[in-house]
Amino acid sequence: YESLAGRDLCSISDFSPTEVAAVMELAHALKAHPERYRWALDAKQMVMFFEKASLRTRLTFETAINSLGGSAIFVDQTQSPLGERESLADIARNLERWVSIIVLRTYAHETITEMAQYASVPVINALSDLEHPCQAMADFLTLEQRFGSVRGLKFTYVGDGNNVCHSLMLMAAQLGAHCTIGTPKNYAPKADVVAQARAIANVTGSDITLVSDPVAAVTDADAVYTDVCTSMGFEHEATKRAPIFKPYQVNETLMSHAAPHAVFMHCLPAHRNAEVTDAVLDGPQSAVFDQAENRMHAQKALLLLLLGGAKAGLRAQG
Ligand code: CP
Ligand code: NVA
Repeated sequence: YESLAGRDLCSISDFSPTEVAAVMELAHALKAHPERYRWALDAKQMVMFFEKASLRTRLTFETAINSLGGSAIFVDQTQSPLGERESLADIARNLERWVSIIVLRTYAHETITEMAQYASVPVINALSDLEHPCQAMADFLTLEQRFGSVRGLKFTYVGDGNNVCHSLMLMAAQLGAHCTIGTPKNYAPKADVVAQARAIANVTGSDITLVSDPVAAVTDADAVYTDVCTSMGFEHEATKRAPIFKPYQVNETLMSHAAPHAVFMHCLPAHRNAEVTDAVLDGPQSAVFDQAENRMHAQKALLLLLLGGAKAGLRAQG
């Protein structure tokens, strides 16, 4: 576990497959025995700067650190982007004197990578325009709980090739799951992220497949994932996007092409009856609230590993 102490998580590709597996292993242990880690981050301070709205990410980071004995400070940056009043370098050199870890939700991904470069304490990406790594960790924790191992599973994402899609694709590659992405032509995931995922997939034995036909994408899938068609920051494109994404809506007909045991997944918040119907979102295959719960367990593991506190829990286990 030592290799992760002091590290940043800007992208799922920052970690090796072994390191990602270590986060998953500790998250399972924490979820099963939270009491063993009750004071593992005693008196540690975490600061969170959010340029975008949040329910799950904010609350699961706060509950995560509180339940490990540490505390959180939340700074609402929705009215002014980070780096506007003061340079990111200067902010970093202040923060590192007061807190042990920095959590950022931004528009520009570079705000997070720059902060990581300047700050001597770990920086975690809590969603940028490029990635949502904490979401992907929670989602694959959910899949591991359902299926045991995810190696060789067919994981399908349909919809916008956005931040969530990027992190899921990288995460699937890290854990050896096969990943199929079905998107409209101009909404495919970024080519350099696909290349990163394929480089990881070559090592772990997973396949990354891009298609535009939603039925082909979903056929025989073990998991079908979608996200909103219009992410935060793209609201002005909503009317243009709605008809383009209509064929990618996850409804009962589309789900009928997946494996009979397939789970439906969504990071939430959902635009109900846009990218997914109520029948699927509220139906028996839906794993969305398990995903939301697992945000907290996965982030507890991440905080412990980046802050070098995993050993406290291991010692307590004896
Ligand atoms: N899934 C997710 O990140 O939710 P919030 O935007 O509410 O944090
Ligand atoms: N893709 C969405 C995810 C929100 C959690 C967005 O960026 O708005």
